[in-house]
Amino acid sequence: MKEIYKHKIAQSSFLITGGAGFIGSNLVEQLLASDAKKVRVLDNLSTGYLYNIEPFLQKPNFEFIEGDIRDLKTCQDALQGIDYVSHQAALGSVPRSINDPITSNAVNVSGFLNMLVAVKENTQVKRMVYAASSSTYGDSKVLPKVEETIGKPLSPYAVTKLVNEIYADVFAKSYGTDTIGLRYFNVFGPNQSPNGAYAAVIPLFMQALKDGQSPNIHGDGEQTRDFTFVTNAVNANINAFFAETDAANHVYNIACGERISVNQLWKGLQQAANIVMEATYVPPRPGDVRDSLADISKAKNLLGYHPEVKVKEGLQKTWDWFSRE
Ligand SMILES: NC(=O)c1ccc[n+]([C@@H]2O[C@H](COP(=O)([O-])OP(=O)(O)OC[C@H]3O[C@@H](n4cnc5c(N)ncnc54)[C@H](O)[C@@H]3O)[C@@H](O)[C@H]2O)c1
Repeated sequence: MKEIYKHKIAQSSFLITGGAGFIGSNLVEQLLASDAKKVRVLDNLSTGYLYNIEPFLQKPNFEFIEGDIRDLKTCQDALQGIDYVSHQAALGSVPRSINDPITSNAVNVSGFLNMLVAVKENTQVKRMVYAASSSTYGDSKVLPKVEETIGKPLSPYAVTKLVNEIYADVFAKSYGTDTIGLRYFNVFGPNQSPNGAYAAVIPLFMQALKDGQSPNIHGDGEQTRDFTFVTNAVNANINAFFAETDAANHVYNIACGERISVNQLWKGLQQAANIVMEATYVPPRPGDVRDSLADISKAKNLLGYHPEVKVKEGLQKTWDWFSRE
């Protein structure tokens, strides 16, 4: 992180929605480690966990509001005295959105709109950084993915994330709202939960290694992803808070800029854990994209983003954390 940002963090108050979740709690930890003036979390604990923020509850510069972004007043109240917002709260997972599109839409679209309205009304808030998604590239076959060329969404989840970007753009034009969207590509790391029907692939693989039970690989395992260690996503948020005005009201790919197949990922994890195990191949999942690789030059140029932790190092760090839990 740039030295100048440490100084700015110490002078600023932050609201992290979804701060009890995976990415949000990592961001909270980094902001508190940099002596932020105030860090407030708004989370309804639907997919996040109190234990992710438990270590911070006693800190005088930390506040937790248990509340729901589907309620406008809750969003308005949470923004009192805040300079910068990182809006991470959403229901993730493509399969979840296919099973229950109404709830995914209510949280990811109506909740997002509430946050935008609350930010627009609040004169103190300087910028809202928000979690966009690589799912927005949808059926586009173009590789690497460049921000300006997207396809059609392949799931209700992807629709919600695309609508977020459209609303952010329209709010900039209609009300002068300042936002930055970060299109995360398969983020992984400590605090990512292996629990529930909609867990992501890396914690699922790690749980399988820990339990000595063969994990499922959907399809032939040759689908590729640009896996991104969470520290890179956290630093992208911090860079985005303080980036120059000409970087505002854009979306950015946040990734490593390298792709590996799910089969390679499984192999890499076995190496990190020093365990050998066969995976079980099951049918592909509807709505999943085949290949994903990001062009990260826009984030490098305009946000000063640099993916400091590469996949191999990130997998080892994540396994070391996971095996201790
Ligand atoms: N993890 C990834 O690879 C990835 C990739 C692309 C985009 N994203 C996006 O990044 C953001 C964070 O994802 P994550 O992986 O940390 O997920 P997560 O589920 O761990 O965190 C989301 C948090 O939002 C909270 N939340 C959900 N609904 C809420 C509501 N109605 N009101 C208040 N809080 C609510 C949850 O309790 C949880 O703590 C999400 O917007 C997600 O769509 C994640």
